[in-house]
This record gives sequence, structure tokens and C-alpha cells, in this order.
Amino acid sequence: PSPRDLEGRTVVVSAGPTREYLDPVRFISNPSSGKMGFAVAEEARDRGAHVTLVTGPVTLADPPGVTTLRIESALDLRDAVVAAARGADIVVMTAAVADYRAAEQAGEKQAKVAGDVTIHLTPNPDILAQLGAEKGARVLVGFAMETHAGVERAAAKAARKNADFILLNYPTREGTAFGGDDNQVTLVRPDGTHEDWPRVSKREVARRLLDEAVRVRRERVPG
Ligand code: C5P
Repeated sequence: PSPRDLEGRTVVVSAGPTREYLDPVRFISNPSSGKMGFAVAEEARDRGAHVTLVTGPVTLADPPGVTTLRIESALDLRDAVVAAARGADIVVMTAAVADYRAAEQAGEKQAKVAGDVTIHLTPNPDILAQLGAEKGARVLVGFAMETHAGVERAAAKAARKNADFILLNYPTREGTAFGGDDNQVTLVRPDGTHEDWPRVSKREVARRLLDEAVRVRRERVPG
């Protein structure tokens, strides 16, 4: 059974991929399944929190007892998360936000042309960094997927974005990360200290994540 250590707290979780439309029928995206974020939302709910889950397009059903907002683009994700985060105690960014969107989104389906085409992309805002810049007493948690120099890069990322910790995962390990039911992550703090967690279910990763978030919160807001 889950501890009721988030009774009365507000937790915001982002999940899934974003879609960056090039025209009405084509988009740039990634294979994020949303399972990790949904597991965090469900675990927070079972620990007594009011939970808002902001998710990109995934096949998972809305979890009972969780306020679920469905968005597509990174800009819409930002607006929904930033609004929901205002009253939140803990924000967990598991969403696989697309780094770029089309500089101009065509209003009509683009016809095929002979030869190569060039797509002009422009960077999306970094939502985690924006939340970190206006953090207040909130606990802020990110995820990162790296193929090399993971701990150093994740620690630098946590420091730059003012996140309390980042869970680092790897795209290549079988049964984990994208689409799998398990995950094998490394907890990385901005000061570079880190802990390897064993391969466990995404729900168990969610439990450990929230244990750590509660610890950070107790240090920040005693009593
Ligand atoms: O910099 P990178 O994309 O590796 O950072 C990953 C973390 O930052 C994740 O928690 C992700 O949800 C968040 N992120 C974000 N906005 C972006 C890109 C990533 O909030 N534009």
C-alpha cells in the first residue's frame, strides 16, 4: 500500500510525446508511450495528492481520480503545465518534448514536389527551465535520455534548469524507456551525486521518485 504522504498536496505531471505539425496532416514526434508519466500520476494520486496530468497523444486512458489534460504541441504543453504548476507542490516533467517545431506551420496539406525539400525548424521553449527560473518552494523533477556521458550531462542539465533532480534513462536497454513497462534509471542531482536504481517497473520508479521528492520538500519546507 502507498503511504499517504502527499495528502492535500498538488502534483503536476507531464507525459508522452509532443507533436509538432508541419501541415494539417504531418508532424514531427517521438515514440514516448506516456507510461512513465502516467505511473507517476497514479502513484501520486494513491498517496493522497491532487494530481493534474498533462499529456501528449498516447493510447493510455485517463487515470481515474486524476485531472487529465490532453495537448499536442510543446507550446500547448507549456501553457497547460505553467498554468497548472502555479499552485503545485511538486512538478514532474516526464514528457518527451520535441526540441523544435516548424518555423511556419502550413495551413493546408503541402503537395509533393520534385527533389529535396527543406524544413525550417525553430527551437521550442524549455518548459523545465522556465519552471526552474520561477521555482518558489516547488520540487521540480526532470527526466533525461542520454546515450553517452549520461551522469555528467544530466547533472549539468539539472543545474542549468534548476531541477532538484533528474532521472536519467537510456534509449537502448531492452524492456525499458520508450514503450516498455520497466525502467532502469539513475537519480542525478545538480551537484553530480547520483544513485543507480535497479531495473524495476515504471510504477516502482514512480514510488522511488516521489519518495525522493517528499524528502527534498521536507528539507525545503520543514514541518
Ligand atoms: O534538455 P533535455 O530535453 O534532455 O531535458 C529533458 C527534460 O527537460 C525532461 O524533463 C523534459 O520533460 C524537459 N524538457 C522541457 N522542455 C523542452 C525540452 C525538455 O521541459 N523543450
